[in-house]
Amino acid sequence: MDTEEVRMKAMVVGEGGELRLAEVPEPGLRPGEVMVDVHATALNRADLAQRAGHYPPPPGESEILGLEMAGVVASVPEGVRGVQVGDRVCALLPGGGYAERVAVPAGMLMAVPDGWSFAKAAALPEAAFTAFLNLFLEADLRSGERVLIHGGASGVGTAAIRQAVLAGAHVITTAGSSAKVEACRRLGAELAIDYRKEDFAEAVREHTGGAGVDVILDMVGEAYFPRNLDLLQVGGRMVFIASLSGRRASFDIRELMAKRAMLKGSTLRARPLAEKLRIRRAFEERFGQALIEGRLDPVVDRVVPLAHVDEALAQMRDNRNIGKIVLAVRDDAESAS
Ligand SMILES: NC(=O)c1ccc[n+]([C@@H]2O[C@H](COP(=O)([O-])OP(=O)(O)OC[C@H]3O[C@@H](n4cnc5c(N)ncnc54)[C@H](OP(=O)(O)O)[C@@H]3O)[C@@H](O)[C@H]2O)c1
Repeated sequence: MDTEEVRMKAMVVGEGGELRLAEVPEPGLRPGEVMVDVHATALNRADLAQRAGHYPPPPGESEILGLEMAGVVASVPEGVRGVQVGDRVCALLPGGGYAERVAVPAGMLMAVPDGWSFAKAAALPEAAFTAFLNLFLEADLRSGERVLIHGGASGVGTAAIRQAVLAGAHVITTAGSSAKVEACRRLGAELAIDYRKEDFAEAVREHTGGAGVDVILDMVGEAYFPRNLDLLQVGGRMVFIASLSGRRASFDIRELMAKRAMLKGSTLRARPLAEKLRIRRAFEERFGQALIEGRLDPVVDRVVPLAHVDEALAQMRDNRNIGKIVLAVRDDAESAS
């Protein structure tokens, strides 16, 4: 017997890169997945690259933009345990968030903490996991160490400042305006440098008495590389999560050896599901209680209706956001119950 195709609304990318609301088939459920009604989703820098055709989804994943969402579980196939219809959940996605419905592996779902709106919960997964993965799993940041977080007012940067402060690290950060620098200070950065007004490396050296830092979380790449390497202490670790200024660098291998320093590159989206599940579990073990107690939550710049996505993406493209921009997919996105 033919089953009727169920359709939903989603924001799709047209051939010229324009976004338009369209009726598309609802995603199918693969083994272990549940269907979630999306109430809010959030923007990520990667959405700009995907819209421009430079960042395709991993093979087999949705072509629809949207790397995270919060919503309500709509259906749970037989045999899938630990989740029920009606649960308020949020999740990291490989794509598909700019839509009314998304299929999510049950193991990736996190409960929306009590009192949180869908909008707030949608702003959590991608930035929180990226910050956690790179600061703690890749760079092994420890209490008492100094960490330099570039792009401190970005979605990832704000999450990284919060987590590093909770972990007892001394946070230094860079950002591109006085409002952004002020926001980083409010989040607990000991030093926030407006890199447009002063050389960040000189400011870090002055602040640390010439010592430098133990860990650097970098999204800028080429333009910062020589200064970053210079600031790394003996035993230092630097993780690249993007190359916003350019992707080429050269360095003196002996300098790296003498510092016994580690340089590492990392992406989240391309990782297999099993690794994402491990990251989710490790994040919840480390920071789950902080989420529940309100000591850790995402910085939301603003919430806009899904229909205004163009304007929201332009704000992000022009570096005008502090923290996350959220898209309300359903009318109750900002309600907390
Ligand atoms: N590897 C991964 O797994 C992974 C995961 C998530 C995100 N990312 C990457 O991490 C970065 C942050 O993501 P997001 O979604 O949080 O981005 P976002 O909120 O859009 O923030 C990015 C910020 O970077 C700064 N910036 C842009 N171009 C710059 C340049 N040429 N030099 C210095 N700073 C520049 C801008 O802030 P200022 O005004 O302060 O300059 C901008 O607001 C993005 O590049 C994203 O693609 C990587």
